Amino acid sequence: MKTVLVTGCAGFIGSNFVHMLLAGGREVKVINLDKLTYAGNLANLAAWQNDPRHVFVQGDIGDRDLVARLLQDHQPDAVVNFAAESHVDRSIHGPGDFIQTNVVGTFNLLEAVRAYWTTLPSPASFRFLHVSTDEVYGTLSPADPPFAETNPYEPNSPYSASKAASDHLVRAWHHTYGLPVLTTNCSNNYGPYHFPEKLIPLVIHNALAGKPLPIYGDGQQVRDWLYVEDHCRAIWRVLEAGRLGETYNIGGWNEKANLEVVHTLCAILDELQPRADGQSYAAQITYVKDRPGHDRRYAIDARKIERELGWKPQETFESGIRKTVQWYLDHADWVEGVTSGNYRNWLAQHYGA
Ligand code: NAD
Ligand code: DAU
Repeated sequence: MKTVLVTGCAGFIGSNFVHMLLAGGREVKVINLDKLTYAGNLANLAAWQNDPRHVFVQGDIGDRDLVARLLQDHQPDAVVNFAAESHVDRSIHGPGDFIQTNVVGTFNLLEAVRAYWTTLPSPASFRFLHVSTDEVYGTLSPADPPFAETNPYEPNSPYSASKAASDHLVRAWHHTYGLPVLTTNCSNNYGPYHFPEKLIPLVIHNALAGKPLPIYGDGQQVRDWLYVEDHCRAIWRVLEAGRLGETYNIGGWNEKANLEVVHTLCAILDELQPRADGQSYAAQITYVKDRPGHDRRYAIDARKIERELGWKPQETFESGIRKTVQWYLDHADWVEGVTSGNYRNWLAQHYGA
C-alpha cells in the first residue's frame, strides 16, 4: 500500500481526490493535512471518518515542524499539494492570506519535504506534485491559441501571482536540489463540494434562494470548464507516470462564456426544480460591476498530457453540469452547512472538534 500526504483535502478538489482514491479501491493511505479555513469542510470527507486509510490532521502547510513530524511518522511515498487560498475575488480584497499560504506556505512545505526526502533510502522514487492553475499564464484574446506548457507566465491577479510564485519555487527546488517534482496547471473545475462563492455553485445556490445571479461586466469572459473528477484522475495519472520536473496542462476543451454557463444552469434548474411562479430562473440574472483586472479568456491545450500519459476528460460539459446541478439539489444540507457556519456544529457532533 502506498502512503500519500495530501494537503488541502477538506476543500473542493482535494476532497474529490480523496473520494476517488478511497472509493476507487486503490491501495492507498491518505494523510490529509488541512488548516480548515472557511473553505475547508470535514463534512466533505464524512464517508472516510472511520476508515483507517484516511488520517485527518488539522494544521498549516506553513508549519514546518508539524509537516516534518507527519513525514517522519507516516513515511509517505508522495506529497500532493492542493492547499491554497483559491478565490480570485477574495485575493483582490485581501491578498495577505494568499501570499502567506500560497507562497510562504509552499516554501515551508518544500523545505520540510526536502529535509525528509534526503533521508529516504530510495529518494528517486519519491514524488512531490504541486497542483496549480491556468491563471498563471494570464489572459487570452479570442484569436489566441489555448495555453500550452511553453506559454510565458503573466499572472494578473494577486491569486494568480501567488500561484505563479509557488510554481516557480517548486521548479527551483527541482533544478537546484533535485527534488522529484511535478506540476499541473488546470482550468476551471466544477462539480460536487464546490464552495458556493465560485460562479457555478453560487448561481445554483442563489437561484434556489430567489437571490440575484450576479454577472460581472458583460458576462462574455470565457473559461474552460473541467469536471472535478476528470481533474482528479489527471492528477493521479501525472503522479503515476509524469516525467520529473515537467508541467502538465489539464483542461476540458470546454470553452464557455460566463453568460452561457449561467443560462445553462437556469435551464437545467427550470426543468428539475421549476420556480413556483412559472418564470425562468434567468429572470434573476443581474449585471454587476466587473471584477478589477478581470482576465477575459482562459483555454487549455491539453494535448501533452493526452499524448504522454493517455489522459483525456471523460465528462462532457453537458453531462457534468447536469450531474452537478442534481448534486446540489440533493445536498441542500451541505450547502446550508457551509454557508451558515453550521458545519462547526457538525464537526463537534461527529469529530468532537
Ligand atoms: P478550496 O479553496 O476549495 O480548498 C482549499 C483547501 O486548502 C481548504 O480545505 C483549506 O482549508 C485548505 N487550506 C488553505 N490554506 C491552508 C494552509 N495554509 N494549510 C493547510 N490547508 C490550507 O480550493 P480548490 O478549489 O479545491 O483548489 C485546490 C487547489 O487547486 C488550489 O491549489 C487551487 O489553486 C488549485 N486549482 C483550483 C482550480 C479550481 O477551479 N477550483 C483550478 C485549477 C487549480
Ligand atoms: O482557471 C482556474 C481557476 O478557476 C482556479 O485557479 C481558481 O481557484 C478558481 O476559483 C477559478 O477562478 P475564476 O476566477 O475563473 O472562478 P470564479 O468561479 O470565481 O469565476 C468564474 C468566472 O465567472 C469569472 O470570469 C468571474 C465570473 N463571475 C464569478 C462570480 C463568483 C461572475 O460573473 N459572477 C460571480 O458572482
